[in-house]
Amino acid sequence: MENEGIRWLTVGGQKNVATLNLVKGDSVYGEKLVYQDGDEYRLWDPFRSKLAGSLKKGLKKMPIREGTKVLYLGASTGTTVSHVSDIVGNTGIVFAVEPSARVVRELIENVASKRRNVVPINEDARRPQTYFSVFGKVDVVYCDIAQPDQTEIAMLNCDKYLKEGGIMLLVVKTQSIDVTRDPSAVVSQEAKKLEKAGFRIEQILNLEPFDKDHAMIYCVK
Ligand SMILES: C[S@@+](CC[C@H](N)C(=O)[O-])C[C@H]1O[C@@H](n2cnc3c(N)ncnc32)[C@H](O)[C@@H]1O
Repeated sequence: MENEGIRWLTVGGQKNVATLNLVKGDSVYGEKLVYQDGDEYRLWDPFRSKLAGSLKKGLKKMPIREGTKVLYLGASTGTTVSHVSDIVGNTGIVFAVEPSARVVRELIENVASKRRNVVPINEDARRPQTYFSVFGKVDVVYCDIAQPDQTEIAMLNCDKYLKEGGIMLLVVKTQSIDVTRDPSAVVSQEAKKLEKAGFRIEQILNLEPFDKDHAMIYCVK
């Protein structure tokens, strides 16, 4: 996979995914810093980040690269956001939406205060019309919000902010949608909703063993 910000590194005999550190010397969540060919990389833990898990599970195309404009729903304290920030670099931007004020404070302290390309937005993704700091359309919408209506929320945000031909990466947490049904049936049901709304599904990944009952759907608007 050609991507300047991402590198596969062998550390302790294991193949790890890592991102080129945008803030030299800074470790965001205790991840290891490793040095290769004079550059500093942050190891990206697939058990802590579903995007790293997706890369480890064989995501065919990585839509996030240098200069990409990303709308990230469910930023939490910024574990994955920080790696996305590394990848998009100073010519890209990550609008990071998180409804909990306490969590956003941590996101600012750990990530946004040190990275000019991360714009924290303390809002509920059910109300995309309230994101006053998002300008223009984005290239990628990334959604990881563990809500029963996660797919509908993601589509609502795509309607308003995703450019035509843009990519959505949707993390489906089947337990949040229906605990009583077979997880793969829940994923198929969510994929059908996307297709009905006009998205073209390119890949669906089961994220085990990194995350149980989670899938990543890669689709195109
Ligand atoms: C599984 S965590 C996200 C982890 C994060 N994506 C990462 O990889 O570092 C889910 C996050 O979604 C947030 N969330 C839940 N409901 C939301 C909503 N309606 N709008 C935006 N974020 C929401 C939660 O507060 C929580 O921080």
